[in-house]
Amino acid sequence: MNDILIRGRVLTFVAEPKGIDDTSSYRYIEDGAVLVRGGKVAALGSYIEISREAGANLSVVDHRPNLILPGFIDTHLHFPQTQAIASYGAQLLEWLNTYIFVEEQKFARAAHAAEVADRFMDELLSNGTTTAVAYCSVHPESVDAYFAAAEARGMCVIGGKVMMDRNAPDELRDTPQRGYDETKQLIGKWHGRGRARYAISPRFAITSTPEQMDMSRALVAEHPDCYVQTHLSENRDEITFATSLYPEAKDYTDIYARYGLLNDRMLLGHCIHMSDREVGALCETGAVAVFCPTSNLFLGSGLFDAARFDKLGGRWSVATDVGAGTSFSMLETMDEAYKVLHLQGQRLTPLNSFYRMTRGNALALGLERSIGSLEAGADADIVILDSRAKSAMEYRMHTVTSLAEELFILQTMGDDRCIAEVYVGGRPMKAKVRKENASKAPRTLETA
Ligand code: GUN
Ligand code: ZN
Repeated sequence: MNDILIRGRVLTFVAEPKGIDDTSSYRYIEDGAVLVRGGKVAALGSYIEISREAGANLSVVDHRPNLILPGFIDTHLHFPQTQAIASYGAQLLEWLNTYIFVEEQKFARAAHAAEVADRFMDELLSNGTTTAVAYCSVHPESVDAYFAAAEARGMCVIGGKVMMDRNAPDELRDTPQRGYDETKQLIGKWHGRGRARYAISPRFAITSTPEQMDMSRALVAEHPDCYVQTHLSENRDEITFATSLYPEAKDYTDIYARYGLLNDRMLLGHCIHMSDREVGALCETGAVAVFCPTSNLFLGSGLFDAARFDKLGGRWSVATDVGAGTSFSMLETMDEAYKVLHLQGQRLTPLNSFYRMTRGNALALGLERSIGSLEAGADADIVILDSRAKSAMEYRMHTVTSLAEELFILQTMGDDRCIAEVYVGGRPMKAKVRKENASKAPRTLETA
């Protein structure tokens, strides 16, 4: 494969920005270039410098005046909920029972799982997301479909089958032994195959018996290099129900702690209604709280308190949480994140938002050496951002005087229209996604 020289305004973070104008937190090169060789970033610098270094067999792609950033990373979403986004009117437990546990039953059919997985990956790519951490359904077929669709596109993804053996319809329940056996088999098949990584996924304390939690403990002990993902303290009724099922636990967090699940490879979705003790327990173990702003607003769950985690040195990441989340776009997600924190008197700076979507989320996954950065040696997962993609944005851009201001406009007004291109392992993907999905006709509506 030829080397590719991607030219444009390059932005990559090297540290967490400590303020609105912390220029030491990033590298920005106005006429910059990323040299891609064999799917990886071979060099990063000014166009003049890099084009001199590059070999003869070179294709140049000129993206000026667009921005070049590392591909976005989404640390929590549900692939079987792709067609259940925007389900009306319910809070968490009612929403799960009314819509989600109905939708997820369809994934017993491998053909359905494969179709949705393809569409799911394309939707991520259209939105500039090149790495995702997703829950699959309880069916192993859904996990095969998920990883196969990612592998076909060369994407780095993390995921796993949800384990759930109570408080769900018969069709969605496994047993402690089956959940263990199927998870074990799927880890053997997918974990470390190419860019795939497995996440052991007890859905949440409400849908797992103590026996299944014991099995989760065994899986985590036997596979310490796998991720672990679950949900924690999203909704007040959920907390009351979960703690009633585990009366011996001090609080909701302690349920997972008692089963040995808290570690620095654990991702806990939501973490909204927590005591100081619980936040402290996450901090001590390095477990990551996952902030899902569009979901938390949509389900009326509550406001994630990022400052509290920052103050105690806790780790947190950001995510869409599709299908309770209302968009695949990390730009739209950060727009809502800004508002959720603003409501609590906290300020998420534009630099911090773009750091979070890239290097910050990579650090949360311990993958900062390969993704979330454009430094030499990183995988060439790249997003090209057009800050003038909508007419109102183009007009607003006339008055822009700084990079931070431009980033804030992208996050506040932007969506998938701002993704001019996305590269996975150095391969351009956006045009391909658009063409393949254009031919798929929508279903006609029934008239009631
Ligand atoms: N808690 C348990 N399962 C889910 C889910 O699918 N979505 C959300 N938002 N919360 C959950
Ligand atoms: Zn979730």
